[in-house]
Amino acid sequence: MKISFSKIAAPARGVVVVTVAEAAAGKESKAAKNKPASGPVLGRSAAAIDMHTKGALRRAIKAAEFSGKREKTLQLLVPGEGQFTRVVLVGVGDPTSLDAFAAERLGAVIYDTVAREPSATVMLEGIDTAKAGAGELAAHVAGGARLKSYRFDKYRTKEDKDAKPKLKSIVIQCQKPAEAAKAHDAVTALVDGSFLTRDLVNEPANILYPESFANRAKSLTKDGITVEVLAEPALRRLGMGALLGVGQGSARPSRVLVMRWNGARDKSKAPVVLVGKGVCFDTGGISLKPPPGMWDMKWDMGGAGVVTGVMQTLARRKARVNVVGLCGLVENMPDANAQRPGDVVTSMSGQTIEVQNTDAEGRLVLADVLWYAQQRFKPRVIVDLATLTGAIIAALSEHYAGLFANNDDLANKLTAAGTAVGERLWRFPMGDEYDRELKSLIADMKNIGGPRAGSITAAQFLQRFVNKDTPWAHLDIAGVVWNEKGTPLAAPGSTGYGVRLLNRFIADHYES
Ligand code: BES
Ligand code: MN
Ligand code: ZN
Repeated sequence: MKISFSKIAAPARGVVVVTVAEAAAGKESKAAKNKPASGPVLGRSAAAIDMHTKGALRRAIKAAEFSGKREKTLQLLVPGEGQFTRVVLVGVGDPTSLDAFAAERLGAVIYDTVAREPSATVMLEGIDTAKAGAGELAAHVAGGARLKSYRFDKYRTKEDKDAKPKLKSIVIQCQKPAEAAKAHDAVTALVDGSFLTRDLVNEPANILYPESFANRAKSLTKDGITVEVLAEPALRRLGMGALLGVGQGSARPSRVLVMRWNGARDKSKAPVVLVGKGVCFDTGGISLKPPPGMWDMKWDMGGAGVVTGVMQTLARRKARVNVVGLCGLVENMPDANAQRPGDVVTSMSGQTIEVQNTDAEGRLVLADVLWYAQQRFKPRVIVDLATLTGAIIAALSEHYAGLFANNDDLANKLTAAGTAVGERLWRFPMGDEYDRELKSLIADMKNIGGPRAGSITAAQFLQRFVNKDTPWAHLDIAGVVWNEKGTPLAAPGSTGYGVRLLNRFIADHYES
């Protein structure tokens, strides 16, 4: 889908989308001056179209009781000789309160209304009152439209032509098209990174396994990222017994993926390190999962998918920051060679782990990658992302991801970034009471706690592999990586949750 920006000009032909503000209740807003005290406020273009069509817009607004409430739409098929085949009114609510996320959502709503047209013109008016500026908001409207346009249809050979969206191009008219086009570069980097994440997460596990995942990531070298893939002999030399134990029942050898973007002015500045759980398929291993829903475990590499997408985004928008993305890539299978419940493995840190449940595998993978991250990169901060526990879904459903941290400042920064982009985080407590549950009779720890607070005991396990003085946060994203119904910005399937959050977190706090 091609997106371009231009000045607001005399109404175009074809399908046109115009914005309508909601009348400010009670207070006299600038836009509402000389207008009746209540009722939606047409932008200048909408008013012109209304004139052109002899009042059809206002009549429709009245008949449909359209208020201009944000994200509400009203469509008019315009009969007769007029220039337009269709006019779509989009409510923007109170335009002064529009921010980037609200603009993205508007873009997504707009996309849905015009997806079946070959092209559309969007006239964004009256949004210059918002804090973010008209150009930037227009760029985010475009970004939202593109995010919503994503489809994963490479395996459909028989789809009905009419079922496919036809939209090829959108022209967005706004007050500051040059600014919009400029801001759109960074937005494009973000959308492309989100698409990479969604593609990785949507792929089935017969196509995407540790080796093929790593091979896809190698394409990031063309964006200026240094990509290194550690194969099993190297992992053995490093002593990654916890990670290797998970993969030992699989015909697909394990990998650790190292991606480096050195964009800071000071090339030696300690990096932000992102770590992703990349279990390309999680059968549970010998502690085998039941069949219903097991297909979902193709997206147990969601954390690694986010890390890879964010790296691409940062590189493509030339972010002034040093970031390392690390992914522990394995497949958890039952097999004659698989690890058994009760096996003891030695992690790279030297700590030993009794593997009581082979389905608690993500933490075993992360234990070694977290340790490696600290040994090699001496990070400023580590954030790991993992579809770690079913318990986080029981606690938060799909509406928040779980946040665990050893540092309040880091937790607050992540929470704020998540709120800003609509990828929300909810912090959980940690503490010795929970950590005690990991006591083992024969090793330094076991890999599961008791039946309660499963997401917290999982986080406690990870924390045993993090140095006290390294600010660290763990995001349990099991509930948000995939959404059967779709989200405001994504079709059903992989959501890309986390890419926008981490991009924002880094942009707000770590770029020099
Ligand atoms: N990958 C799963 C967690 C998961 C469950 C992600 C559902 C997405 C949807 C993880 O490896 C797992 O199996 N966790 C176990 C841990 C338990 C054995 C302590 C769980 O949550 O049941
Ligand atoms: Mn598991
Ligand atoms: Zn898993």
